[in-house]
Amino acid sequence: MQDRLFYPYLNKTYPEIVKAEGMVLKDSEGKEYLDACSGAVSSNIGHGVPEVIEAIKKELDQVTFTHRFKFTNAPARQLAGLLADLAPGEDNRVTFVSGGAEAVEYAIKLAREYFIELGRPSKYKVVSRWQSFHGNSLGALSAGGSVSRRKRYSPMLLDFPHAAPHNCYHCPFGQERSSCRLECARDLEQVIRREGAENIAAVICEPVVGSSLCVSVPPPGYWPLLRDICDRYDVLLIADEVMSGVGRTGRFFALEHWDVAPDIIALAKGLGGCYIPLGAAVLRGKIYRAFKNNSGSFAHGHTFGGNPVAAAAGLEVVTYILKNKLLENTRNLENHLLGQLRSLQDKYPAIGRIEGIGLFAGIEFVRDRSTRRPFDPSDNITDAVVDTALEMGLVLYGSRGCADGISGDGVIIAPPLNVSENDIDAIVQRFDHVLARVFL
Ligand SMILES: Cc1ncc(COP(=O)(O)O)c(C=O)c1O
Repeated sequence: MQDRLFYPYLNKTYPEIVKAEGMVLKDSEGKEYLDACSGAVSSNIGHGVPEVIEAIKKELDQVTFTHRFKFTNAPARQLAGLLADLAPGEDNRVTFVSGGAEAVEYAIKLAREYFIELGRPSKYKVVSRWQSFHGNSLGALSAGGSVSRRKRYSPMLLDFPHAAPHNCYHCPFGQERSSCRLECARDLEQVIRREGAENIAAVICEPVVGSSLCVSVPPPGYWPLLRDICDRYDVLLIADEVMSGVGRTGRFFALEHWDVAPDIIALAKGLGGCYIPLGAAVLRGKIYRAFKNNSGSFAHGHTFGGNPVAAAAGLEVVTYILKNKLLENTRNLENHLLGQLRSLQDKYPAIGRIEGIGLFAGIEFVRDRSTRRPFDPSDNITDAVVDTALEMGLVLYGSRGCADGISGDGVIIAPPLNVSENDIDAIVQRFDHVLARVFL
């Protein structure tokens, strides 16, 4: 039978996965792969957890769909309650969508309408940072600062301003961690001032930058300063926790590491554990009250948002994470993962940087470690590592442009949160063999 699927890369062949369990995928030829990056940093509890499958089946037997504009349902209400309590901030409310870009679009529109509710319609722009990624829909892409993903669509993107990222290994301000004065956060303040705070509705940032900075952990003080800037200019702070949330960093929300409560949190990926498409926006009480006390509605949404089957899956995933103490497991394994990866650095001078938090590790490759000079983009180093790894049965998440938006190669290792030390050792051992093939 002719294969009619329209694949992302038309000249590649794609193994067909026929079974997935824990962090192991098996293809139709019987070959096994270690899923070291949890799909797209998204299968946070691994594949095939029976409790989640059972919860989905049970809900399917009960109700397959309700439309959130007309009905409510118990799993959505329960999951909303759980997330509202887990999230920082007071009197939170939660809405469900079907993925990360939808959650970001929802957050952006919510911020815009919040200021309309308050009688300040001039506030509509969203400030973000270069080398961040917020999703591929046009609104989320406009907010994002991933040069390669924006390039082909640039004439279609919205006029959203961008500030400098925290990219400490290639600091845009020439600083080291020891000399850092949070110039990047102050740059964001300058952007707000230049654009005029009366035009800015929100700032959106990933708490730990994932795909476009190959895991960049902000310097201490960065997020508290961002919170302070947003408060001073009356701008909403949106945390895009699509990749960093749901336990990935060892806290349910990554921002808990810095004790900061954003105004809106975008979630997806790990929330449904990739058993089913699910995203969410968590909003603080002050936003809820602005709508409640004024127009009484924020009627934005998508057909599948808040459906009971996805909510039942999410409810079970979150319950599974809490019940099995996976946040603790993630925190306990952080040093082991990073330590094992660092032990490879002597052998491979091409490893310039290893950075991470929880079970979220970035490995950046450079041509010259002493100067941190990246490889030329035409060397396609990320592709070479990711493709070789796949050939050798290891699934890695590639990150391109992490030096300056154009150059910079790396891979992310982010196994499911329920792995053991032995699982990590197996991943690192296979990674070692992959690097040997590419670099030695
Ligand atoms: C931080 C962040 N936000 C948003 C998205 C978009 O999520 P989705 O692919 O579910 O639309 C991603 C996807 O990688 C992401 O990493």
